[in-house]
Amino acid sequence: MLVTMIEVRGLTKHYGSTVAVDDLTFTVKPGIVTGFLGPNGAGKSTTMRMILGLDRPTAGTATVKGVPYGQLSNPLGTVGSLLDAKWVHPNRSARNHLKWMAASNGLPRTRVDEVLGLVGLSDVADKRAGGFSLGMSQRLGIAGALLGDPEVLLFDEPVNGLDPEGIVWIRKFMQHLAAEGRTVLVSSHLLSEMALTAQNLVVIGRGRLISDSSVQEFVDFATDTTVRVRGPRLEEIERCLRDGGLGVRLEPADPIHPPHLVVSGATTDQVGDMLAARSLALHELAGQSGSLEDAFMKLTGDQVEYHGADADAMLGHGPEGGPPPGRPPAAEGGTPPAGRHAAHEQGADKEVR
Ligand SMILES: Nc1ncnc2c1ncn2[C@@H]1O[C@H](COP(=O)(O)OP(=O)(O)OP(=O)(O)O)[C@@H](O)[C@H]1O
Ligand SMILES: [Mg+2]
Repeated sequence: MLVTMIEVRGLTKHYGSTVAVDDLTFTVKPGIVTGFLGPNGAGKSTTMRMILGLDRPTAGTATVKGVPYGQLSNPLGTVGSLLDAKWVHPNRSARNHLKWMAASNGLPRTRVDEVLGLVGLSDVADKRAGGFSLGMSQRLGIAGALLGDPEVLLFDEPVNGLDPEGIVWIRKFMQHLAAEGRTVLVSSHLLSEMALTAQNLVVIGRGRLISDSSVQEFVDFATDTTVRVRGPRLEEIERCLRDGGLGVRLEPADPIHPPHLVVSGATTDQVGDMLAARSLALHELAGQSGSLEDAFMKLTGDQVEYHGADADAMLGHGPEGGPPPGRPPAAEGGTPPAGRHAAHEQGADKEVR
């Protein structure tokens, strides 16, 4: 039986006339990292706040282990989160910050040194948290999320602004937490980062579900995979592949590649076999994928809330040709119910404990 730790069903949030989350439905399972991906303003933080009971849904439900956060019998032992790493008293030491959190939540003080060790902050535990770098603040935030040894963890953009070393550390730490059997939901607006961190991917744009799949499925679907082909009898190769029903484009020489063909609609194996059957020699046969960020932009491009100036337009180039590709299957929502709550829930306390 598949266990569902977080279940979001028809979740909708209106802030006045802004629809922040729009009939969102997805589930999050234990033992893997689930990436929650969307451009700025897509509704990731709002969704996470509703899962954590910090914002009230306009419609729909968000449950953890089958109940709304507010009804969990042991909330701190069930869910931990990091929404804002800078949420810490600047003059408190890391250890005192965690001791205060533990005391105010009825958790044993012994756990403080354990979590400091887990996130690698033992050596700086008595330093002022206000003087911490962003990377250290993130670690302290993660330590706080782990205080109750929770089964479910939510992290909102934990790698934002971190240097490469900090990013790698967070990525490995999330994977480690998932490997322990925990449920890990982590938001990001970078597909390339999520592709390295997560196994499953829930993608949203303008509050709506765009896709819910494995990372591999999303990447396979969203990126154009083509095959680069080169051989001494290029014209005959081109004809052979066209006769076989494949899309073929001749690319003239560029500083890196001699003239070659770009073939779509087949794998390298299929192209190689077709040409071998006609005894056409190959000097190059290589699969190539489009960039992840390009794919993400294509899928979410019309869902982005604020567009920057179009670089191509500024440079005098025309827009990229072709309509956006189809989308992976996502739940088609109905019309969201009229909003009942206006903007005064917005001051929700960022701290979860
Ligand atoms: N408290 C609030 N009051 C009014 N509007 C809000 C509030 N919180 C979020 N919004 C609006 O809801 C939409 C979704 O915002 P949200 O912060 O959830 O997106 P996000 O995906 O987390 O974006 P980012 O990547 O920038 O963090 C945006 O249009 C935002 O302006
Ligand atoms: Mg956010």
